[in-house]
Amino acid sequence: KEGQITQKSVVLIGFMGAGKTTIGEELANQTGRSFIDTDQEIEKYFGMPATEIFQSRGEEAFRQKEKEVIINYAEQQGYIISVGGGAFLQEEIKETCLSNSVVAFLDISWPSWKERLSLLIDTRPVLQGKTMDEIQQLFEERQKIYRSSHHIEVKTDDFSPEQTAENIIKQL
Ligand code: S3P
Repeated sequence: KEGQITQKSVVLIGFMGAGKTTIGEELANQTGRSFIDTDQEIEKYFGMPATEIFQSRGEEAFRQKEKEVIINYAEQQGYIISVGGGAFLQEEIKETCLSNSVVAFLDISWPSWKERLSLLIDTRPVLQGKTMDEIQQLFEERQKIYRSSHHIEVKTDDFSPEQTAENIIKQL
């Protein structure tokens, strides 16, 4: 399989909790490539979880490091990279990924996503203190960005991570 697919890195985008990390790991297994979770790299750099980075260093510091980490990997070949749901709000990240790598959008529906909210809330600073309506609005705004900036799109609702990874590989 690996011999036939693009040498470019594959960048997984989508809303928080869409499954970017799980599917990225699966994709790395299936292709034999190295997996990078850029949120984990950022957390390692600061030595604390994202919620604490937002609280003690501020969102700006998180976003600056996010830009450095993602651009570094997206410009190299052969990686499977999962990026944070807010990454493509930064134009420079979006453009670098679109022109150097294959961007795959993991499309989860709002009803499916809602079922995962309770698993996400403690570790996602962007969701904290928001009403359900505000979260849905954020979801819809973000989906618009992902929909207009990818090369490959996969629906995740009715598929296992393994099936979704296969579906991406077919499109590479
Ligand atoms: C964020 C998403 C998170 C993480 C940070 C900010 C966002 O990543 O980067 O909490 O702005 O959507 P996941 O999409 O992996 O949850």
